[in-house]
Amino acid sequence: MGLMRKRKVGILGATGSVGQRFVQLLDGHPWFELGALFASERSAGKRYKEVAKWFLPSEMPAEAAEMVVKSLDDVGTSENEDLSIMFSALPGEIASEVEKRCARAGCAVSSNVAVHRMEKDVPLVIPEINADHLALIEEQKSRRGWDGFIITNPNCSTIVMALSLKPLMRYGIKAVHVSTMQAVSGAGYAGLPSMAILDNVIPFIGREEEKMESEPLKILGTLEGNEIRNAPFTVCASCHRVPVIDGHTMAIWANFAESVSADEIKEAFKNFTSDIKTPFAPEKPIIVREEQDRPQPKLDRDAGNGMSVSVGRIRAGRMENEIKYIVQGHNTIRGASGASILNAEVLVERGYI
Ligand SMILES: NC(=O)c1ccc[n+]([C@@H]2O[C@H](COP(=O)([O-])OP(=O)(O)OC[C@H]3O[C@@H](n4cnc5c(N)ncnc54)[C@H](OP(=O)(O)O)[C@@H]3O)[C@@H](O)[C@H]2O)c1
Repeated sequence: MGLMRKRKVGILGATGSVGQRFVQLLDGHPWFELGALFASERSAGKRYKEVAKWFLPSEMPAEAAEMVVKSLDDVGTSENEDLSIMFSALPGEIASEVEKRCARAGCAVSSNVAVHRMEKDVPLVIPEINADHLALIEEQKSRRGWDGFIITNPNCSTIVMALSLKPLMRYGIKAVHVSTMQAVSGAGYAGLPSMAILDNVIPFIGREEEKMESEPLKILGTLEGNEIRNAPFTVCASCHRVPVIDGHTMAIWANFAESVSADEIKEAFKNFTSDIKTPFAPEKPIIVREEQDRPQPKLDRDAGNGMSVSVGRIRAGRMENEIKYIVQGHNTIRGASGASILNAEVLVERGYI
């Protein structure tokens, strides 16, 4: 993109599990520079290094470490009007009002949070699949009378699954069954006591199945005028927490309208490319593993800097026209902060900011 001025960005919920990933991934970003960090009253007024219990393997970025964390009351005030993008990683209950206030004040909000995802005029975007849905931004701004706007990325397991489904759409998907094995980082830093998850599997994740069964249909749907027409198939999900730190793995059974071979599906995964070429876009959104025991979270979550998903074990199922496979992706990079950053890059590249 040649020389361009760096956009100032803020992070809502900067001290949390997803927030820390934002801080880590934005360090040294070629297009974005950190302008402000926001968290709860517990953290506001103190330096980031004093309040963020840093648990990522790299050092806390020096610039962020010295920044004084701001309160949510400061969002949308004139003091922060230089922020052109706000990344959101707040708990759902408090995110809605703050994100709307921010958009009203002229900011582009790139949110991880579920609360606005399914609203008709809010783009729910995985750029390699549906960057064209960003056209809803104009509708949103005019309908709501905002200078700014909100865009969202899907739930972490939905992103990983939906990317793998995109190249299969041309074979006429009729139904998808999915069983997840989800990492503990998806529950937030304080989410699950170690005594609950070590030596264990928890066969319930609140509101996860509902998200996996609805969000992919919007993402894989088509933009018609000012509306999205949902993709015409059903997703049936069962979600489980397993003692893995990072990386969601899922077993998928996909049923097609017509007969299709495992080899054709493997070729479709291999040939999948994307025209998104911004800094966080992985060279290969989907990587095919040939080994019979891959993908595995420990070995494959960092593929493509954590932005690629890996598929393997592509084989025929037992039901009519059924293919089954495994897909794995990094839940806090591809599934959360990296996804929001990629979305924001596409906003810049396409002139929305
Ligand atoms: N983890 C994932 O893989 C993942 C993936 C996709 C989406 N998400 C979504 O991202 C959001 C954040 O998740 P997380 O896992 O990062 O949670 P988390 O680790 O619990 O972090 C929560 C963040 O929000 C702040 N916060 C909490 N209560 C607040 C309040 N009353 N006022 C202002 N700030 C407050 C916290 O600040 P303090 O430190 O000051 O308390 C912290 O910065 C959630 O909506 C989640 O559903 C998570």
